[in-house]
Amino acid sequence: MLSAASSCKKNSPGGGGGGSGPVSERVTRPAACLRLVPYGGPYRGQVPDKRNKLYTPPYEPKVPGAYPAVPRSVLVANQKGGVLKSSIAAALSSMVAGRRRVLLVDADPQGNVSRNDLGVNPGDRGRMLAMAVQYGEALDPIRDVRPGLDVVPGGVLLGTLPQAAAVTSAAGLDMAQNLATTLGKLVQEEQYDLTIIDSGPGDVGLLDVLLRVSRHLLVPTADDDASLEGVDLIAGRYLRARSEGAQIELLGVVLANVNHRATSRNQAAMKSIAAKLEGSGSSAFATVIRTDKAAAVDMRARHLTPGELVAVAGASQKARFAKLRSTLGHAGSQPAETWSRDGSGLAGDYQQLTREVLTRIAEQEKRAG
Ligand SMILES: Nc1ncnc2c1ncn2[C@@H]1O[C@H](COP(=O)(O)OP(=O)(O)O)[C@@H](O)[C@H]1O
Ligand SMILES: [Mg+2]
Repeated sequence: MLSAASSCKKNSPGGGGGGSGPVSERVTRPAACLRLVPYGGPYRGQVPDKRNKLYTPPYEPKVPGAYPAVPRSVLVANQKGGVLKSSIAAALSSMVAGRRRVLLVDADPQGNVSRNDLGVNPGDRGRMLAMAVQYGEALDPIRDVRPGLDVVPGGVLLGTLPQAAAVTSAAGLDMAQNLATTLGKLVQEEQYDLTIIDSGPGDVGLLDVLLRVSRHLLVPTADDDASLEGVDLIAGRYLRARSEGAQIELLGVVLANVNHRATSRNQAAMKSIAAKLEGSGSSAFATVIRTDKAAAVDMRARHLTPGELVAVAGASQKARFAKLRSTLGHAGSQPAETWSRDGSGLAGDYQQLTREVLTRIAEQEKRAG
């Protein structure tokens, strides 16, 4: 099973509000409380509206087994940039790692999640992943970037794949099968419990490859029209991949980078997402990821995961108080100051999303038998 709940307290943390003990402890120990309860989304049992764009027909691949998906792999995708794909990929993978073995694949030529969010430096500028996609070469991830978290770095060399695509297919090779085989082998050998794949906004050819290799799809969106239209675009590619034999299933859509207090605005966005998802068998996640610019700047600039930011911000705040109290002003070494006073609200959102994601993965696995 993906996770155990034996040590989980009833009032386990979520949203940064519940639970007891220091905030840093509450938000940095999420995986202990991941519960695999059956997912009972609002669409369960409803008659699907087949006119809807995202109506997911029962899975009957035209070419059975054409693309054997990597088990428990989650592709984070939306063709629109800036909807927190990389931030979510970093948060999910770091929150599950520690208790479970996690592989993070950075399939974005910008390499944001590996380089900026997790501080992988030097990486390989995406060379290893590009070679795996183009020639099926073996992947050797960077180990223990965080405890239990291995990373296949992204970078500019992934940008060479569109040109390589014609050569690859002329040589009788299929990029999706190359990656499915080499990534599947790695995941099996290393016994990863979860693989998170971050994708970039640009190259749709690479996105199509990832849609054929991944088992689950997670779509982040902001509440503006362009981001919501991005959901339609990815939906079209997702359905095409499935019709060609991909095993990927939509895990859900997450509303991200929104004012969590703007409840009526968020409800309207949720309604719009629900309309898009009607009949898909999936739904929007209940969790929304709040806007917290200060926390986001701190995390990227200092390569901190949400849990790490909470700890660092706590230390930084204590140092501020100590400095105020101290007549000397700056005795001893002080931790560098953070912009965010307390990243626990954002970390709590990610923790809650992690639980929902794992629950839905378990449910999809159960349904698939
Ligand atoms: N919760 C947040 N609130 C505000 N800005 C955020 C938040 N999380 C991330 N950001 C910032 O938003 C920008 C886009 O995030 P990113 O995760 O790179 O999106 P994508 O991968 O979809 O392009 C980055 O500058 C990032 O630092
Ligand atoms: Mg990104």
